[in-house]
This record gives sequence, structure tokens and C-alpha cells, in this order.
Amino acid sequence: MRALLVENIHPDASARLAKEGYEVQALPQALSTGELAEAIGGVTLLGIRSGTKVTERVLAAAPGLQAIGAFCIGTNQIDLAAASRRGVAVFNAPFSNTRSVVELALAEIIAMARRLPEKNAQMHAGRWDKSAAGAHEVRGRALGIVGYGNIGTQLSVLAESLGMSVYFYDIADKLAIGNARRCSTLAELLDAVETVSLHVDGRDGNRGFFGEAEFAAMRPRSLFLNLSRGFVVDHAALRRAIESGHIAGAAIDVFPDEPKNPGDEFVSELRGLPNVILTPHIGGSTEEAQQDIGQFVAAKLADYMASGATSLSVNMPGIALPVPVGSHRLVHLHRNVPGVLASINRVLAEHGINVEGQLLGTRDELGYVLTDIGPAYSEDVLAELRAMPVTIRLRTLRTP
Ligand code: NAI
Repeated sequence: MRALLVENIHPDASARLAKEGYEVQALPQALSTGELAEAIGGVTLLGIRSGTKVTERVLAAAPGLQAIGAFCIGTNQIDLAAASRRGVAVFNAPFSNTRSVVELALAEIIAMARRLPEKNAQMHAGRWDKSAAGAHEVRGRALGIVGYGNIGTQLSVLAESLGMSVYFYDIADKLAIGNARRCSTLAELLDAVETVSLHVDGRDGNRGFFGEAEFAAMRPRSLFLNLSRGFVVDHAALRRAIESGHIAGAAIDVFPDEPKNPGDEFVSELRGLPNVILTPHIGGSTEEAQQDIGQFVAAKLADYMASGATSLSVNMPGIALPVPVGSHRLVHLHRNVPGVLASINRVLAEHGINVEGQLLGTRDELGYVLTDIGPAYSEDVLAELRAMPVTIRLRTLRTP
């Protein structure tokens, strides 16, 4: 079986798949749609990052493709609906760079509290100003985390370990970690803290979530961070809040319109402002995160192929069934309509096959069932299951 990994994916991914018996081809560059369509024939597993598009045309050129690993967070570059229709599972790495984002946020909170952007610029301009004015420790200061998900909760833990007191606001019910205090409204949080850090997700409803009114509701001389999504914040309003002195510093890693290519001009209302740290969407970009992504996604692909496990898949129903010893597993992907499980089991019963374990999951249009049967079965059973009009894909696994 062949695995094609493009876009310089961490070598740990190739090593893992090679260990599983795949013949791995790893390319440093992204491929255009035409190049990928040509290269993908005969490939079972495809690994990409954000620069390679997987379109209907690419999928049509790869009838043997079982799964795609997006060795990154986003999956917009993949036609997920087309992948699902063809029964191709898609995996990504939603948590691998969480720690990297948190460390950058903490570094920026301290840097802003000590006014490092200004001190640094002054030194480079040849000016020595050894003043303590406006410089603070973060110990004992109140941090407000908006969006208490993977990143928000981890930031909560590390900020507390620095002696900050943490408040959070989330639209979902979230368990408070450590001594963090839950706020029931955003207004309550903004009133309680001197540093606000946004870690909400990129759902459409969060467009323009933080603007004029929210900046006005922050305490005077507060610090503001956004390392979530650019469109969440009104940058013109942020500029006004900084220019008026109401906001004492900001750290922004994400922008509504981000340049596409290295070297492209970066255009933003926030350029040239004092005590404002601007970074080019690098919150999650560390070598450690890349390595973790390589290991995580390769493991998901390997697991899917070996046991049919789909936990954390982007498009498949998420199920995992413990692997029994010495039997066969039928991995059946089908259209999610009533009665499929009964039909599968009727076929098995008619052939005198006993079901040793079975698990069904559904998601939107897809149904996915893992069925463990004994070591003996005939090709006729598989042919009958394959011929069911609802079947999208059937494969068999021999468990160790
Ligand atoms: P997550 O999905 O685990 O957490 C997001 C949390 O925000 C959820 O608990 C959700 O209920 C909450 N939320 C959503 N809308 C909200 C609102 N309007 N008010 C309050 N709470 C709200 O996501 P995760 O992994 O923690 O990522 C957070 C953000 O960080 C995402 O937008 C992600 O795209 C971004 N990110 C940025 C990176 C960078 O390089 N700067 C790298 C990785 C993620």
C-alpha cells in the first residue's frame, strides 16, 4: 500500500507509516490540482497541509484512496462532501498546537505588561530609557479568557501558575479549571479583568464579535490579545481604543485579510501603533507543534486502516471498537437510511456467521458500522454486502 505525503510533513509521519508497512513517498512541496490528480493513482493514504487542494477531480483520480490526513488544523482545502460521498475518511490535528498558542499568549502578556515593544524599539533606535513607569508584574493581575476551549483552558492553568487570577466566559457550560472563576456574561468578565484574551472558535456568528462597545466596556488601560480568528475583532475600533489610550497594549496574531504568500505586503489599521505586538498568524507555528501534528495525524491514519477507528475524524461518524484477537472485522460505510444494520445482520445470519462485536455510528448522510465476525467467512458474504444499494465502501480487516 502506498502513502503520498506532500508539503514537507514532519518526518515522524513518514516513519510511522513506513513502520505500518506503507511505501511512503514524501514530497517537500505542495502539488497543484493537476499534479496531485496525476500523482495520486494507486495511493491509499494522502497527507497534505494547507497548501494542497483536494477536489472532486483529485478524488476521482484516486479510487483506491482510503483516507486523507490534513497535517494541520484547518480542512477547508479538502472537498469534505466529495470525500464523504466516496467514503474517504479525513483526519486533522485539532489540538497539536494548543500549547504553542498558549505560550505565545503568555509571552505577549508579559511583554506588554513590561512595555517591551517600546523598550526594544527605543534601544534599536539608540535611546536608553531605564524607567519603570507603566511597567508591571503580571503576578496578581486578573486575566479574562473569552472562549474556554482547548486553548483557553490551557492558558488558564499556565496563567494561574504565574500567579494571575483567571476569569473566563464561554457560551457553553465549561468546567472551571483550578481556581478560575466563571463569568456568566461577557460584560461581567470585561468589568473584572485588566487583560482580555480571545480564544473563541471561528463560527460564523463570531464575525465582529468584539468591537467598539466591547472595547469601551473594558477597564481603562487594559491589555487585549487576539490569537483566535481575525474576523472576530473590529480592528478599526481597536485602533481608536489604543489611540485614545483606553487600551494600553494589544497583541494580535490573526487578521481579517491575511496575505497569501511570504513577502506579500501586510496591510492593517494596526500598523505603527505603540505597545502593539503584531505577529503573522504564528500562534501555533512551532517545530514542536509540527512534530506533534506529524505523529498525531499519522497515528490516526494508521489506526483507521488497522482497526477502522474513526475517533476525531472530520467527516466520518466517530467510533472505535476494541480489537478482538484472531477474528475478522467488516468495515462498512453506507448511506444513513433506516434498516441498514438489520440488513447487514440478516446477510450474516443467512450465511451462518455469528457477530462477535458490533458498533454503529452515524453522521449526517453517512452510517458506519464495525462488525467483528469469526475467522471463517466466504467471499459470497462480502459480495452480498457490497451489492447492497446503500453500501459506499466495504473493507475487511484481519485482527492480530
Ligand atoms: P475550541 O473549539 O476548543 O474552543 C473554543 C471555545 O470558544 C469553545 O469552548 C466555545 O464554546 C467558545 N466560544 C465560541 N464562541 C464564543 C463566544 N462568542 N463567546 C464565548 N465563548 C465562545 O477551540 P481552540 O482549539 O481552543 O481554538 C480557539 C481559537 O484559536 C480558534 O479560533 C482557532 O482557530 C484559533 N487558533 C489559532 C491559532 C494561531 O495560530 N493563532 C492556532 C490554533 C488555533
